Amino acid sequence: MIKASAISHPNIAFSKYWGMANEKLTLPETDSISMTLSRIFTHTTVGFSNKYSQDEVEIRNESGLSGNVIHQVDQRVVKQLDRLRKLANTQKKAKVVSINNFPADAGIASSASAFSALTVAGVAALKLRMSKKELSILTRLAGSGSATRSIHGGFVLWKKGESSTESYATQIYGAKHWDLVDIILVVSATRKRKTSLQGHQLATSSPLRRNRIEATTKNNTRLLAALKNKDLKLLGNTIENEMFLLHAVAMSSAPPLLYWSGDTVEIIHEVWELRKRGVECYITLDAGPNPHIITTSKHAKEIESHFASWSMVKKRYICPVGRGAFLTDNHLF
Ligand code: PMV
Repeated sequence: MIKASAISHPNIAFSKYWGMANEKLTLPETDSISMTLSRIFTHTTVGFSNKYSQDEVEIRNESGLSGNVIHQVDQRVVKQLDRLRKLANTQKKAKVVSINNFPADAGIASSASAFSALTVAGVAALKLRMSKKELSILTRLAGSGSATRSIHGGFVLWKKGESSTESYATQIYGAKHWDLVDIILVVSATRKRKTSLQGHQLATSSPLRRNRIEATTKNNTRLLAALKNKDLKLLGNTIENEMFLLHAVAMSSAPPLLYWSGDTVEIIHEVWELRKRGVECYITLDAGPNPHIITTSKHAKEIESHFASWSMVKKRYICPVGRGAFLTDNHLF
């Protein structure tokens, strides 16, 4: 048995990947910029052995075992294992055990941490030597584009590229560059009805898609300037615009996708209220109802306590900027 384990954090997209230029290769239609989070993570062990007659995938979450049912994500896991086997020139089947310390598939980018942890652990188990660029490309090919950004810590740019070898993530600034914090408010921990993969596929049916691509390209220039100058106002206004652009495309797809709940809308208004009162914070959402409030460490505690008494908020995670995916000796089997 050869095995290795990795830990990887999700990332929150400041500008969003929504819609694919090439589905087979997971090539996006725009560049995207993100911040890698700390505190919440996926921990994965991958072992290859001749004693396995087929791949076994076990995905656990905070509440224990959530099953090894073969659904879409598991198929993507098996396909990624096939890519790894091809590179290492081996037929050995694998066992994968993966644990999240936060709810999966609820708009907290669990696929980003899951597929980056899987790839980093798989590459190490098979003793493949890879640069960060190659790791980022291989992670992207697993089908979760956002995972390509979690290879790096800090603030990350995923260049869309025109071909597979050009589409990968690089670090713009390390985690210490700016003390930003993502406060995640979990209003619903149930699995989303439509996966982000379905959302990407439906994006082409939205009449707003082309405009979003143009707007996101401009937003990326703004975000790079905001990060460089640590300009929270510019950053915040741009990420809110990015959130609305993504969800406008989703809502105007055929059939429409509505990821928000009433609680989501209430929290959007409350964030704007807090801002009026001088608490500098901004909101973004991925493909789910759970708000991410972006602020600096100065306001983080105050904002978290503000929402502590809101009964709709079932859980709160305060996530400062984190590091990229890394190997650990702590094996899950
Ligand atoms: O990586 P995927 O296929 O799960 O898609 C991610 C989509 C968003 O989280 C909504 C946006 C992003 O860029 O992370």
